[in-house]
Amino acid sequence: MSTHIGAKLGDIAETVLLPGDPYRAKWAAETFLNDVVCVNQVRGMLGFTGTWKGNRVTIQGSGMGMPSLSIYVNELISEFDAQTLIRIGSCGAMQPEVKLRDVIIAMTATSRSTPSSGIFKELNFAPCADWGLLEASVAAARKLGSPTHVGGIYSSDTFYDERHDLMTEMMRHGVLGVEMEAAELYAVAARHGRRALAVLTVSDHLLTEEALPADQREKSFGDMVEITLEAAFGVAQP
Ligand code: HPA
Repeated sequence: MSTHIGAKLGDIAETVLLPGDPYRAKWAAETFLNDVVCVNQVRGMLGFTGTWKGNRVTIQGSGMGMPSLSIYVNELISEFDAQTLIRIGSCGAMQPEVKLRDVIIAMTATSRSTPSSGIFKELNFAPCADWGLLEASVAAARKLGSPTHVGGIYSSDTFYDERHDLMTEMMRHGVLGVEMEAAELYAVAARHGRRALAVLTVSDHLLTEEALPADQREKSFGDMVEITLEAAFGVAQP
C-alpha cells in the first residue's frame, strides 16, 4: 500500500495504463481485460488489474492535471515498481489537419511548468516518449486503421487557458494538441528509467471549436486502449 494507492504489493502489474478518469479505467478494464480485480478505491481513483492475451496489466485512473498524475506515477514506480506507464486520454487539436476522433501519439510534451520543474531549475528539459513504445503504437494504430498523428503536444496547467499568445506560438511551431498530463509523466519516467508514452484522442478542436458528443467518445477511447495494449505487449517487446 502507498499513500494514495490501496493495492497490496504484487497487485499492480509491470505495465500500467493511465486514463485521467477513474470510470474510464473501470470501463476499459471491464471491456478489454480478463480476470479483472479492483485494486484501488482510495479517493475514488479506481484502479484495476487483469490480463490481456495472457499479459498482466493494470489500468489506474490518474486524475486531471500534472500534480494529480505525478502522485500516482511516483507511487506506481517507487512503491509498486511499474516499468511501463502509458497515458490514455483526450486532447484538444491545435492544427487544421488534425480532426475530431483522430489519435495523437505524443513524441514530446512542451509545458510552462510541471511538478518536476523545481528539479530542473533553469534547465529547459525536453520530456519525450519511449522510442520502442512510440514505434509500436504507431504500428498498432496503422493496423487498426485509426487516423494518427505523431509529434509534439502541449501539457497545460489550465483547461481554461487565457494565454492565447502562447497557444498561437505553439500552433506556429507545429504542436499538434493540448492536454494536461504527459510532460510530467515523461519527466518522472525518465528520472526512474521507465518506459512512458501518451496516446490521445482528439475530443475537441481549438481552431474550429467543434467538440465530440459524449456518446461518441467511447469508441475512440476503445481504439486507444487497443493501440496501447498492442504497443505494450505486441509488436515491440522490450
Ligand atoms: N485543453 C486542455 N486539456 C484538454 C483539452 C483542452 O482543450 N481537451 C481535452 N483535454
